[in-house]
Amino acid sequence: MRDHMLTAIDAAAGLEALDAVRIEALGKQGRVTQLLKTLGGMTAEERQEQGPRINGLREAVATAIASRKAVLETVALDMRLASETIDLTLPADAPLAGTIHPVSQVMDELAEIFADLGFAVATGPEIEDDWYNFTALNIPETHPARAMHDTFYFPDEVDPGTGAVTKRTVLRTHTSPVQIRAMQAAGGNTPIRIIAPGRTYRSDSDATHTPMFHQVEGLVIDKGITLGHLKWTLETFLKAYFERDDIVLRLRPSYFPFTEPSAEIDVGYSVVKGKRVIGGADGWMEVLGSGMVHRTVLEAGGYDPDVWQGFAFGCGIDRLAMLKYGMDDLRAFFDGDVRWLKHYGFSSLDVPTLSGGVGA
Ligand code: PHE
Repeated sequence: MRDHMLTAIDAAAGLEALDAVRIEALGKQGRVTQLLKTLGGMTAEERQEQGPRINGLREAVATAIASRKAVLETVALDMRLASETIDLTLPADAPLAGTIHPVSQVMDELAEIFADLGFAVATGPEIEDDWYNFTALNIPETHPARAMHDTFYFPDEVDPGTGAVTKRTVLRTHTSPVQIRAMQAAGGNTPIRIIAPGRTYRSDSDATHTPMFHQVEGLVIDKGITLGHLKWTLETFLKAYFERDDIVLRLRPSYFPFTEPSAEIDVGYSVVKGKRVIGGADGWMEVLGSGMVHRTVLEAGGYDPDVWQGFAFGCGIDRLAMLKYGMDDLRAFFDGDVRWLKHYGFSSLDVPTLSGGVGA
């Protein structure tokens, strides 16, 4: 019986066949198990003789099964590895070869340039509380700027008992709410240097406006911050971003509820082969909104405006990309047309780096 079992174990061609042999020998009704049960009915002498024999048989069978199992498992794994190969050296199908979208590339460039100036990257939610998007930024309920933003509102959350509005949310109309979130996170007593790139939404659509677009916010809070710091920072950033030294800025007085004073930043351009190119001073192009953080906004963020000052700026990222890389219809950014992406997209290896030339 022993030889018969050991032969069957060695002959088992697969894990299932081996398991069948195991059940036949060591299972509840198995032949070895049955033999073990006979020990109970034996005389002491018989048991002394048969005990070691039967137990030895059980051990030999169990060991043989375990080693056969290990062999079969190795074979099964080898077969799987052999059948599941993938040749990474094969060329990918051209239409599937992805590129980095210019917006992503520009966001990476911004992060790199501003990191060089000591700025961290901050983020906030795209579905934003009305308070962060407007009220905390000194845009109260009745303020005309609310209408100017062509806001996408969500239905109000209402208290079923009283009918009072408990929560009002919007798709954020700008990245400025991240100013408030960054101030709150910093706790009202530490300097802040952040940029906040991300998606923003307004109900607007033509060649230069899409309902979803991208902005980058900048915020600096410290003691003794002046408009001079703002101008230097933006000039340094724009020179690094456009990779040229002949960048000229013009600060034009403007109005934003959350900054005082406010300035629109115009950048000088020159005309090359009938196209406007940033740099030089043939004319002025409006590129950024900016200003000194309003007292009310500092207070909403938990900062004492008699101690802390700051500047902020906001800028369309899509526009920055168009100005640097020469696309002229914003809508194409979001069409997902593979030909456009192939033409304007970047290689995934084309990571903007300081040593590669985008630093400040
Ligand atoms: N949030 C403003 C806009 O979307 C831009 C801005 C940001 C202006 C910060 C001043 C300071 O138009």
